[in-house]
Amino acid sequence: MKNKNVLITGGLGFIGSYIANQLIDDNNVTIIDDLSTGNINYLNNPNHENLNLIKKNLNSLDLNSILIDFDYVFHLAALVSVPLSVKNPITCNLENVTSTVNLLNGCVNNNVKKIVFSSSSAIYGENNNLPLKETEVPMPSSPYAASKASCELYIKSFFESYGLDYTILRYFNVFGPKQDKNSPYAAVIPNFINAILENKQPIIYGDGEQTRDFIFVEDVAKANILAAESQYNGIVNIARGEKISINQLYNIIKNELDSEIVPKYLPPRMSDIKHSLANIDNMSKIKFNVNNHLFEHQIKCTINWFKNEL
Ligand SMILES: NC(=O)c1ccc[n+]([C@@H]2O[C@H](COP(=O)([O-])OP(=O)(O)OC[C@H]3O[C@@H](n4cnc5c(N)ncnc54)[C@H](O)[C@@H]3O)[C@@H](O)[C@H]2O)c1
Repeated sequence: MKNKNVLITGGLGFIGSYIANQLIDDNNVTIIDDLSTGNINYLNNPNHENLNLIKKNLNSLDLNSILIDFDYVFHLAALVSVPLSVKNPITCNLENVTSTVNLLNGCVNNNVKKIVFSSSSAIYGENNNLPLKETEVPMPSSPYAASKASCELYIKSFFESYGLDYTILRYFNVFGPKQDKNSPYAAVIPNFINAILENKQPIIYGDGEQTRDFIFVEDVAKANILAAESQYNGIVNIARGEKISINQLYNIIKNELDSEIVPKYLPPRMSDIKHSLANIDNMSKIKFNVNNHLFEHQIKCTINWFKNEL
């Protein structure tokens, strides 16, 4: 992608910052981010001449006047924690659904070419028809998942009502350097790495035999850019299409770190699903694929980044 005007909401966050870093040299990048979980240092060059940074909450802005002359919008800003959404469903609705409708409205009023939306595999809920196809009926089991499913419906309705082009990306479990390790709700990979590096016992909820489909963050950023450039109006799972159990994952990380620490097993958490695996056939619709042989190398990269952080 070259010489485009792009908006990245949540561009100071874990995934959004990778999209910004991949685009900034050849495009004009505007980021809207309220820094609720983001970090300006996630950008390779926060002073880049092609960057316009708006440090505000999406709901506090007049998006109609901001969205003038934009080609693509990458919408990632959201309250992303499932436990927090269970605790504060009204805040979750405001941050995730209301802000998305405001943004869609601004896109339509300004003839934005396309919106690429960050959705989640959480919308599938506890569904045993693995590997999961995009055509499965959403069965959200948390306010977070329900908010993502609602956004998807709004996006589809804006396509039908006003012709706003879109691609919805349903990420499975994203990992990589810079993922938040300090949050009490931190994702499993930074949690494991961080605990071992600090010589603490990592926690596994349930028996550890639950499986997930992990994908590297650089690949997710690439998928966003390909989705913007594609002609595809629809939903695409973004994953490796390979499952790994939490116990297997722990062993890979433990071996990489040459550790003997045994994890502590606690009861399963509310809203956690047992298994998750994507059907990735639709990824070809945006010309995206992943090289599964790189998984252990990507885990190593992530570990090295956390080691340097410590
Ligand atoms: N990380 C994953 O495994 C994963 C999986 C599925 C879906 N997603 C989705 O991908 C997107 C990005 O996730 P992430 O892991 O990078 O999370 P993140 O918390 O690192 O990034 C979200 C960013 O949005 C900002 N933000 C939040 N609400 C805002 C608002 N109302 N106005 C302005 N800025 C706001 C935060 O400050 C942060 O920088 C989210 O929409 C999330 O739901 C992530």
